[in-house]
Amino acid sequence: MALAATAQATDTAAWTRKDLLGLRELTAEEIRLILHTAESFRGISLRPIKKVPALRGQTVVNLFFEPSTRTRTSFELAAKRLSADIVNLAVQSSSLSKGETVLDTVRNLEALKVDILVVRHAAAGVPHLIAARSRAAVINAGDGAHEHPTQALLDLFTIQEKQGRMEGLRVAIVGDIAHSRVARSNIWGLTKLGAQVTVCGPPTLMPARVEELGVRVTYDLNEAVRDADVLMLLRIQHERQESRLVPGLREYRLRYGVTRERLRAAKPELLIMHPGPVNRGVELDSEVADGPHSVILDQVTNGLAVRMAVLYLVAGGGKAEDADA
Ligand code: CP
Repeated sequence: MALAATAQATDTAAWTRKDLLGLRELTAEEIRLILHTAESFRGISLRPIKKVPALRGQTVVNLFFEPSTRTRTSFELAAKRLSADIVNLAVQSSSLSKGETVLDTVRNLEALKVDILVVRHAAAGVPHLIAARSRAAVINAGDGAHEHPTQALLDLFTIQEKQGRMEGLRVAIVGDIAHSRVARSNIWGLTKLGAQVTVCGPPTLMPARVEELGVRVTYDLNEAVRDADVLMLLRIQHERQESRLVPGLREYRLRYGVTRERLRAAKPELLIMHPGPVNRGVELDSEVADGPHSVILDQVTNGLAVRMAVLYLVAGGGKAEDADA
């Protein structure tokens, strides 16, 4: 495959941003461009030699201040499959532990001529702060409870792939909406592409005035299940709660856990999605997580193509002379 063909098919000239910080600021066309670019990268991971030279000579740094399995690994693999050099900065054993600031760390990485920083941080806005002060492109890999744009993009990609459309699709996001960056990015992305979004969860885990984001609210999981084409489950983010906001996990499962019995009222083509990590037996029973409606591992697979697309676009993909693979 020639990536030049990708550039023609997707008109990458439409990507003008240095960074990818959130879906709130993207237009529907920019979101579609990323999804379309990801589509053309998907096949690379199915080849015997899973590598193209599109980002040869570029250096990517994974700068994760919070734990991650899927996001960090798939950004690393995405960079490697595009032939970029990638460094995983071990934050715990870096000089951050000696009191060096995040911005000084970034200045030092820039002195080493890195091109792209992939940043995850517990505080909302840190990737934005770095992006404003750095020449390198910055990709937000999750900032506090604010945004997780590449997760929402891979979710959109998976929904489009499995349901064949987005316009008018009914998507219910269930769980700890208040503390979820995945929910926020998905609400921006889904509504921009024409889906109808319902959020469902305990009142204590529902953000104030969430309706202003263009979503419907229900506290009744059975109602959400009955109407949905897509059910996106979220875990309770205990690490972002200052006090206990649900009585207990058993009570939570009784009211908001998705069980096989609850799915009896669901549409046959319902998709069960979860960004991971799954707390089995809390928001989702194992027989549902591993059942016929589940596309949870497809989300992970698609995350690789989506992150390849994002790296490619922020690196100026389509304009590079060596885009031919
Ligand atoms: N979905 C997600 O962000 O997973 P990780 O925390 O494992 O990266």
